Amino acid sequence: MIWSLFGLSFLNILWSFLACCFLVALCVHNIWKKYETCRLYVLFQDLIRYGKTKTNLKREKWLRVFDVPKRWFWQFYAISVCWNGFLLVINLNLIFQHQLHLSWLSGISDILSVVSSTDNQVPQLSTLMVQLLLWIHSLRRLLECLCVSVFSNGSMHLVQYVFGLAYYIILGLTVLFSDHGVKGSGSLLLQMDWFHVAGFGLFVAASLLQHQSTVLLAKLRMGKSGTVETLAYSMPKGGWFELVSCPHYFAELLIYISLSLVLGGLSLTWWLVVLYVLFNQALAAQLCHDFYVSKYELYPKHRKAFIPFVF
Ligand SMILES: NC(=O)c1ccc[n+]([C@@H]2O[C@H](COP(=O)([O-])OP(=O)(O)OC[C@H]3O[C@@H](n4cnc5c(N)ncnc54)[C@H](OP(=O)(O)O)[C@@H]3O)[C@@H](O)[C@H]2O)c1
Repeated sequence: MIWSLFGLSFLNILWSFLACCFLVALCVHNIWKKYETCRLYVLFQDLIRYGKTKTNLKREKWLRVFDVPKRWFWQFYAISVCWNGFLLVINLNLIFQHQLHLSWLSGISDILSVVSSTDNQVPQLSTLMVQLLLWIHSLRRLLECLCVSVFSNGSMHLVQYVFGLAYYIILGLTVLFSDHGVKGSGSLLLQMDWFHVAGFGLFVAASLLQHQSTVLLAKLRMGKSGTVETLAYSMPKGGWFELVSCPHYFAELLIYISLSLVLGGLSLTWWLVVLYVLFNQALAAQLCHDFYVSKYELYPKHRKAFIPFVF
């Protein structure tokens, strides 16, 4: 592939591009706020907003043709559980039975990856652990979408929906192929290092924070008996909501950082994924924070949008 001639991998180019897109969107959104009536501005806002942050957007009727229900979020995680579970089994087969990838998967690998230098090859155990943690994360989110969260009739753009479906497919391939020349052929347990333990610890803590925040959001719509009483939006309280408007987005960032730790911090591609998540969630958090500030006069001034005490 042409990009490998320059020592680049398709995945590095893709994740850098996506990270840049969301950084630019964040900047454009902040600069462009004054031109609310401009048609291009509305089109842009239609593409970056979803759910509650879309409710106040004044759009022409034809733009609503592309709306799909936000409650379809569960489908992203269902795809992820199936696809990333499948890739995990393939990798286990490769490690324990020394069976090669399926031929079509090897073809994809040739397009996506370049052989890393020996300095930044990650241990086999790291790739396996990240695959497993990603699968657990997807399964938890799927169960939360189906059993915990209370969705309203909010919508997202068809483009966001298709992007969400493709996202977890590419993410799984990124874990498997970004560090083509993995090192460590001995026992998996002998490869265990301090960063596996640290990464796992952070993953558990961040997952608990995200789950707690999801439960607090669901409770905003429930009565004391646990039945749904309203689909309206209220001001979140309790837990890390006292520090930021979107602790679940902050937890998402921490989860991706924890996976980078599990990879020993050696995978440049995964750091680019972290960068993408940082800008993507920062944009969503900024829109959500602005929504709360404009809706609630008494919204706590010290509460940041995304990262406690920082942003
Ligand atoms: N990795 C990625 O690229 C990526 C991208 C997007 C999201 N995510 C993750 O996916 C998870 C969900 O994200 P999201 O953007 O859907 O979160 P969200 O907009 O906060 O929605 C989560 C749930 O809470 C409800 N809700 C939100 N604010 C509420 C309020 N003020 N009062 C009452 N109910 C409220 C929503 O209902 P509605 O149906 O009314 O919205 C929905 O059921 C997050 O943990 C996020 O980190 C990851």
